[in-house]
Amino acid sequence: MTFLRATPRIAAALALAIGLVAAGAFARAEWRRADAARLLRAAPEAVIADADLMAVARAIAKPAYDANCAACHRDGAGDSTRGVPAFASGGWLYGSGDVYDIERTIAHGVRSGDPKGRNLADMPAFAREKPYAREKIDPLSPDDIDDAAEFVVSLSSGDADAAAAARGKALFEGRGGCSDCHGGDGRGDQAIGGPNLTGPRWLWGDGARETLRDSIARGHAGVCPAWDKRLDPAVIRGLALYVLDLSKGRGRAATNGKSP
Ligand code: HEC
Ligand code: HEC
Repeated sequence: MTFLRATPRIAAALALAIGLVAAGAFARAEWRRADAARLLRAAPEAVIADADLMAVARAIAKPAYDANCAACHRDGAGDSTRGVPAFASGGWLYGSGDVYDIERTIAHGVRSGDPKGRNLADMPAFAREKPYAREKIDPLSPDDIDDAAEFVVSLSSGDADAAAAARGKALFEGRGGCSDCHGGDGRGDQAIGGPNLTGPRWLWGDGARETLRDSIARGHAGVCPAWDKRLDPAVIRGLALYVLDLSKGRGRAATNGKSP
């Protein structure tokens, strides 16, 4: 009978506990909404300069990054077996590391099917009869491809066969049209996502002759999904700031081959 007498008290205690938990959750949700609004209202430079707001950005972004990005981007080090770039200050594929540039890539993706996504060029497959679907580009012979790869080796490690690299340089600036997308000096074109070919970071593989030849022969067109339909604007802003953080080596365990 003591049990029956105690029941209403247990029920009341339970109800109180549930109420407290719900109020806590509500307060937390309110706190997040207020923080999200603060984050979106501030100019990104102001957020970066404000340790408190940066903490808010990281708190909003980290769970979203772990759930949606880490599978490909890992801790920011990328994955050159799958063409996933390392986030590295001074070495962006798109733009120059401005928060709005990064935000745009995250919101609309790369070759994602989103009309606002980044999608101005692919790497042609020069061993194919028709190397490029977007415009007419002539194929290269296996010897040409070896020479072009040798020129890229000369740009990066420097340890190249001089005669082959000289032939490759002529191809790079001429018939191959490589400089149109990778720049005359091979340092890339961040307006179209033409990667820097001077190393030490690589999008695909490790910069060895074999992987360079493979890139030139078979082409590439890496995809990053668009996130603006799936994630809140404040989360996307937070992610852009978080990616910028990762590019400076914060919270990173390993690097993609060499350090950023
Ligand atoms: C399925 C794998 C995949 C997922 C998931 C993914 N990405 Fe990407 N991301 C890529 C690839 C591949 C590229 C390079 C695209 C290219 O080749 O141009 C890329 C490029 C980027 C870039 C451009 C980097 C630069 O150097 O300019 C940013 C920024 C980026 N991703 C952020 C994110 C964020 C943030 C998320 C999660 C919300 C995410 N990505 C999820 C595969 C992925
Ligand atoms: C129409 C533009 C275009 C042309 C022409 C072009 N490339 Fe590329 N190239 C790209 C793009 C874009 C990528 C990155 C592909 C991706 O994001 O997955 C790339 C990637 C590469 C890579 C891999 C880089 C890395 O970091 O792993 C190499 C090597 C390369 N190109 C060499 C060449 C050479 C040599 C030529 C000329 C024979 C050439 N490219 C011509 C656009 C081009």
